[in-house]
Amino acid sequence: MDPVRSVKIKGNTVPMKRRILVVEDEEKLRRVLELQLASAGFEVEKARTAEEALKVADRADLVLTDLRLPQMDGLELLAAIRRQNSQTPVIVMTAFGTIETAVAAMKTGATDFLLKPFSLDHLMTVVGKALEMRALRDENLQLREELGRRYAFDNIVGRSAPMQEVFATIMRVAPTRATVLLAGESGVGKDLIARAIHFHSPRRERPLVKINCTAIPENLMESELFGYEKGAFTGAMNSKPGKFEQADTGTVFLDEIGDVPASIQVKLLRVLQEREFERLGSNVTRHIDVRVVAATNQDLRAALEQGTFREDLYYRLNVVPMNIPPLRERKEDIPFLAQHFVTKLGPDTGNRVRDVTDAGIVKLMSYHWPGNVRELENVIERSLVMCSGERLDAADIKLEMAPRSRAQADQADRFLPDGLTLDQYEQDLIREALRRADGNKSQAARLLGLTRNALRYRLTQMGLES
Ligand SMILES: Nc1ncnc2c1ncn2[C@@H]1O[C@H](COP(=O)(O)OP(=O)(O)O)[C@@H](O)[C@H]1O
Ligand SMILES: [Mg+2]
Repeated sequence: MDPVRSVKIKGNTVPMKRRILVVEDEEKLRRVLELQLASAGFEVEKARTAEEALKVADRADLVLTDLRLPQMDGLELLAAIRRQNSQTPVIVMTAFGTIETAVAAMKTGATDFLLKPFSLDHLMTVVGKALEMRALRDENLQLREELGRRYAFDNIVGRSAPMQEVFATIMRVAPTRATVLLAGESGVGKDLIARAIHFHSPRRERPLVKINCTAIPENLMESELFGYEKGAFTGAMNSKPGKFEQADTGTVFLDEIGDVPASIQVKLLRVLQEREFERLGSNVTRHIDVRVVAATNQDLRAALEQGTFREDLYYRLNVVPMNIPPLRERKEDIPFLAQHFVTKLGPDTGNRVRDVTDAGIVKLMSYHWPGNVRELENVIERSLVMCSGERLDAADIKLEMAPRSRAQADQADRFLPDGLTLDQYEQDLIREALRRADGNKSQAARLLGLTRNALRYRLTQMGLES
């Protein structure tokens, strides 16, 4: 447990030492405890009696008290503290042979106890654990409080710092015509953000045209994007405007921009620079007024280095870069997203679920979310169908297909799952290992019985590492 925590004072985050109140009548022990805690980085306050302690207990982050004290004893002190403030962790110290008093103390609301004599090492473990629990409870409290405040922008949910930054950037750039480049893994919300930019712009009444650059085969791409004239190619019976023309005075959303073939990259560059193009089979230059938002789930800089993406186009696109971190890097958004999806999807599944239990949230927060918010949405939807109560609990939440136990897997089962190739199966196993290792590659490699280099090689092949 970090002895220093951050507190907000008038909007500024200030580091502050955690304060521990030591209540011990025996001079020598008091001194030892003080030295130990102070050298661990805590601020220590001392009291010789319970009466003295009560006067300052409310400003302590943790109270460490002896049970046998001169007048009012430790148990009474504990009870008094619980009446004052139920949250402060209180650890009681008691001598061997008086375990009953320790039990009584736990019943009165002690957080933990230490049996004398105890090692300083054990003391630190118990103190750390108590503070950790306290911090968790504070966090939950804060989360609940914030739920009542602003945690979303339109339908985009996010309380984390990077998401707050995303909201601010949307507000800042929406009124302009500046080109925006959204970068982030699949499922982080790029589509949602592109829409928000359009609908907060002066173009909101005009068309928003999405072009998925992966979905269109290369030979059809030019005509899709820029249109064609009658007779431009066999089968072109009529002329047809392309997506850019359809989006005139509106916004074009170029999704998966990293997949645009080189031949089209040149033409995009011209649209971005000059706002002009020609239809296929025509020599009439057309001028348009479009705002471009592009998105990519690849690292475009790597593509630049490999020469598969034009540098000039990259700089034209990257006027306002927005990076949306994967969900596992902003886990504090998970409780809000989960609540959002329960509220949004609940009515459709026709059940009575209103929210998620603390245990449910903990389960959701400890998962790696390779598919990001999209995967979270799917998991919640699936769980809602299974849930019969009013609150989604850990047991209702199925994160993935439960792995079959080794004993159950008979010879017939020991082959590839239906419809998977060996490569896909291997990739699944690698993803699962990464998830279990919480993204730690050395640990994932160990789980798979691979060297770190062998794993890296496979990740590169999967496009997960450059
Ligand atoms: N911050 C968010 N708040 C609410 N829903 C979100 C958020 N991010 C993503 N989603 C939802 O998750 C799904 C995937 O989002 P999408 O924008 O399509 O991701 P991407 O384009 O990055 O793959 C969509 O259903 C979207 O509504
Ligand atoms: Mg998308």
